[in-house]
Amino acid sequence: MGIIKEQEQTIMNLMQSVADGKTIELAHTKAIEFAKLMSYYKCAMIEIEAKLNVLNVEYSLSFDRNPINSIKTRLKNPLSIKEKLERRNLPISIESIEENIYDVAGIRVVCSFQNDVYMLADALLKQDDIDLFEKKDYIANPKENGYRSLHLIVSVPIFLSNEKRPVKVEIQLRTIAMDCWASLEHQLRYKKNLAFSDDVSYELYRCAQLSEDLDLRMDNLRRQILNK
Ligand code: GTP
Ligand code: MG
Repeated sequence: MGIIKEQEQTIMNLMQSVADGKTIELAHTKAIEFAKLMSYYKCAMIEIEAKLNVLNVEYSLSFDRNPINSIKTRLKNPLSIKEKLERRNLPISIESIEENIYDVAGIRVVCSFQNDVYMLADALLKQDDIDLFEKKDYIANPKENGYRSLHLIVSVPIFLSNEKRPVKVEIQLRTIAMDCWASLEHQLRYKKNLAFSDDVSYELYRCAQLSEDLDLRMDNLRRQILNK
C-alpha cells in the first residue's frame, strides 16, 4: 500500500469514529480532504526547503563555505495530530488542524555555526512571501532543561491550479552542537516514560552548557580564521 493510501486508510478509521453515526461516505470524504490538506503541508515544506537551499548555494558561492549542514523535513503523522488536538480539547476536524496545529509541517535546519542560524533566519524572513507567525528564541533564552534552538512558525503561499493558499510551517534552526544535545536528550527522554531525577536533569543541563560553550568557542574561531 502506498503512503497516501495508508494515510487515507488510517484517517478513514479515525474519521469513522468521529463521524459518529453518520455514513461511511462522509468518513471517506473526510479522508480525502485530510490527504489533500497533508499534500498542502508537504508542498509548503518543499517551498521552504528550496528557499533554504538557495540561500545555502548563494552563501557558499560568496563565502566558500556552507552555512547549512543538513535539512530534515517531516509531516506530523495523523495519530500525533489527533492526540495533540485531544490534549488541547480542540475539535477533531480539518479546519481545526489548520487553525490550531502549527507543526504539521516541520523542517529542522542544522547549521554549522551559531551565527549561521540567525543569518539564515533573517534572510528567510526578509523574503516578501514569508510571514512570520511566531518566533521562539531558545538560543538567547534556553529552556530550563538547557534546550537551545531557534523556532519559527512561518506562513508560505503555495500556488495551486486555482488558488494561492497560505500554509504554516514550523522551522527549527540549530547548530550541530545543539542538535547533538537535543537528539540525545530526546532519545533518553522519549524511550523512558519517566521524569528525570534531579541528578540526571542537572547532568543533562551541564551537557547543554558544554554544547553552548563549544558553539561560542567555534564561533570565535570562525571570526578569527575566516574574518566574516
Ligand atoms: P508543542 O508544539 O505542543 O510541542 O508545544 P510548544 O509549541 O510549546 O513547543 P516548542 O515550540 O517549545 O517546541 C516544539 C518542538 O521543539 C518539539 O516538538 C521538539 O522537536 C523541540 N523541543 C522543544 N523542547 C525540547 C526539549 O526539551 N528537548 C528536545 N530534544 N526537543 C525539544
Ligand atoms: Mg509548537
